[in-house]
Amino acid sequence: MGNLSTKSITWLSVLAASSIANGSNLPRANNLDTFVEKQRAISLQNVLNNIGPDGSRVPGAGAGVIVASPSTVNPDYFYTWTRDAALTMKVIVDEFLLGDKQLEPYIENFIHSQAVIQTVTNPSGTFLPNGVGIGEPKYNVDLTRYNGAWGRPQRDGPALRAIALITYSNWLISNGQHQKAKTVVWPVISNDLSYVGHYWNSTGFDLWEEVQGSSFFATQNQLRALVEGGVLATHLGVQCTGCDQAAQVACFLNKSYWNGQHFIANINSDDGRTGKDANTVLGSISVFDLNARCDDASIQPCNSRSLSNFKTFVDSFRNSTLYPINEGTPQAEGIALGRYTEDVYFDGNPWYLITAGAAEYLYDAVAQWTAQGLLAIDETSLAFFQDIYPAARAKTYGPKGKCSEFPRILKAVRDYADSFVEVVKKYTPTDGSLAEQFNKTAPFNPTSATDLTWSYAAFVSMSERRAGKYPPSWVPAEGPIVVPQQCTPGSTKGVYSPATAAGAPDVNVTCTSNVRFEVNATTYYGENILVVGNTTDLGSWDFSNAWPLDASSYTDQRPVWAATIALTAGQTISYAYVRQEDCGQSPIREPATANRTLVVPPCDPDADPDATLIVTDDAWQGPTGNTGGC
Ligand SMILES: *[C@@H]1O[C@H](CO)[C@@H](O)[C@H](O)[C@H]1NC(C)=O
Ligand SMILES: *[C@@H]1O[C@H](CO)[C@@H](O)[C@H](O)[C@H]1NC(C)=O
Ligand SMILES: *[C@@H]1O[C@H](CO)[C@@H](O)[C@H](O)[C@H]1NC(C)=O
Ligand SMILES: *[C@@H]1O[C@H](CO)[C@@H](O)[C@H](O)[C@H]1NC(C)=O
Ligand SMILES: *[C@@H]1O[C@H](CO)[C@@H](O)[C@H](O)[C@H]1NC(C)=O
Ligand SMILES: *[C@@H]1O[C@H](CO)[C@@H](O)[C@H](O)[C@H]1NC(C)=O
Ligand SMILES: *[C@@H]1O[C@H](CO)[C@@H](O)[C@H](O)[C@H]1NC(C)=O
Ligand SMILES: *[C@@H]1O[C@H](CO)[C@@H](O)[C@H](O)[C@H]1NC(C)=O
Repeated sequence: MGNLSTKSITWLSVLAASSIANGSNLPRANNLDTFVEKQRAISLQNVLNNIGPDGSRVPGAGAGVIVASPSTVNPDYFYTWTRDAALTMKVIVDEFLLGDKQLEPYIENFIHSQAVIQTVTNPSGTFLPNGVGIGEPKYNVDLTRYNGAWGRPQRDGPALRAIALITYSNWLISNGQHQKAKTVVWPVISNDLSYVGHYWNSTGFDLWEEVQGSSFFATQNQLRALVEGGVLATHLGVQCTGCDQAAQVACFLNKSYWNGQHFIANINSDDGRTGKDANTVLGSISVFDLNARCDDASIQPCNSRSLSNFKTFVDSFRNSTLYPINEGTPQAEGIALGRYTEDVYFDGNPWYLITAGAAEYLYDAVAQWTAQGLLAIDETSLAFFQDIYPAARAKTYGPKGKCSEFPRILKAVRDYADSFVEVVKKYTPTDGSLAEQFNKTAPFNPTSATDLTWSYAAFVSMSERRAGKYPPSWVPAEGPIVVPQQCTPGSTKGVYSPATAAGAPDVNVTCTSNVRFEVNATTYYGENILVVGNTTDLGSWDFSNAWPLDASSYTDQRPVWAATIALTAGQTISYAYVRQEDCGQSPIREPATANRTLVVPPCDPDADPDATLIVTDDAWQGPTGNTGGC
């Protein structure tokens, strides 16, 4: 009965919010089950609406291309990101395995699109010989490269794509399609696992594309990819290049991110943040395995450190100065969650996928304790439990015994999960559309990209966990990864080959040589220098497709812009530099009389593929730009 008054307050505020948003006083169904079931179906359809070639919101997207959002301005998300696409495809594969057979063509198209995309030369580099191009974060929706400045490379995408395709391959094997898994899908997975084993120990940009360093989310997914990739390779009777790095990735994950209270989201970086970040909660959702032990090396939702981390992250948003939206919410209830408290992107608002993700995380943990029939609370996780079940103690609870507290504690965690879903429900418009964010300030309207694919995908997976439906296990039952005593740096040189059976072009036949373009060019802050030329890689004289150079070695003494590009060996090329100003002025090209030429060194299969065979020593010859003052 005490509950009733709380409920009616929520009810009134829902009414108030919906009348502001819609000018309508029609009440919405206030039952969480009804909302979740309805919103699950809406969300899945909206995911499909953002996938080419037939998605109703993404005309022009290629087959199997998962577009991040239909939004083309403020912000422009009309691209395909490898990370978002792979996370979405994992949800689609899981839905397919749960019985939604209409999804198979989406999976087939995705495999094809990714086989092609792996081979696309881009500003992160080429596919051959070293796979560096696979670390490119985003592409145009017609599968061509994106040339603008960006936080690149990003090393979580290949791992997540491997995870989605491994889940599908395991299903193929169990359904009489072993040969297809081996000849069509495995070559795509193999390139991604090669990349992970090759570069897990190199820095890259995090999932929010802001911090260069090592990201907990990336490392955690890299571990999963290498472990289950190794098992799949054994089943298929093929070699996994890179999977031998799994134990060292596990060591790095276990020993480098934990600070005694929470996981630091980004290390090997100098980002000046606390490190409390949704990164560390989303990572545990994507490695979730119902049957894994809570102390598994992958850091599962039921892991004690992870629970302490969850509490610390969530509490960082229980600050009504920062987040007026959370004002007055008691400690035992879910709140609106953003990426990290220092966030300023679109004012740093709550995200739907993170708030839903918190619920999914808690449903996952409850499912694991239920499956194990045990709940071991220790000093590390105690504070998490005491918030929602004040009588909790550091001990092991089991379901046996007359007045067992086990079901009561689990119910408290589940209610806590539901309270995060209530937040999502409260701020979801009546038509069920999910943007990227909702405003932390009244009237709490949706903001940033509309119809964000990842928001919808996150809602679907959360609703399945809430309904007790789980993805297949992946932690090997015969023996989880043993974390070595001593961590050492590592890398296994990858083997890269176009996945031609899945539709990749046979880029194998070309042999490339590395050319380093270096040009002295004094620039204003905000200007960029690019190289353009008469080959496809250099944009065929199309400035909008020129190759961006990097100013990371630029100094007052030597204002150098540079890039190393693998070019088809043996050819003579013609090239020039282009200056792009910061206020949208037309690009300035060096005069055509200044067209430069060089001969790309011939093919040498025995040469070190990393070696740079030729370095240009150029100086800018065109007019200088102006500050623009925009
Ligand atoms: C590489 O691995 C070592 C050993 O785990 C670790 O100390 C180091 O921080 C790692 N560096 C990067 C960039 O991953
Ligand atoms: C990770 O490290 C901690 C502290 O050294 C240890 O207690 C835990 O068992 C490790 N996890 C695994 C999976 O080895
Ligand atoms: C709460 O947020 C405000 C605004 O960002 C900040 O100034 C303040 O330090 C935060 N309080 C705590 C306890 O973190
Ligand atoms: C959030 O809402 C406030 C108050 O209505 C508004 O000033 C601000 O521009 C909004 N921010 C975004 C990113 O929509
Ligand atoms: C590509 O080259 C690799 C290494 O030489 C070879 O193993 C592979 O079979 C080739 N792939 C195709 C499709 O020709
Ligand atoms: C590019 O220009 C060079 C130098 O003029 C020329 O030798 C070469 O054939 C051209 N390549 C193409 C593909 O047109
Ligand atoms: C010089 O560059 C221009 C493009 O800006 C191109 O049209 C022209 O063909 C080039 N000349 C040579 C000899 O490559
Ligand atoms: C570029 O700058 C460096 C350092 O000042 C100088 O040594 C080099 O000669 C310059 N290159 C050209 C082509 O001017």
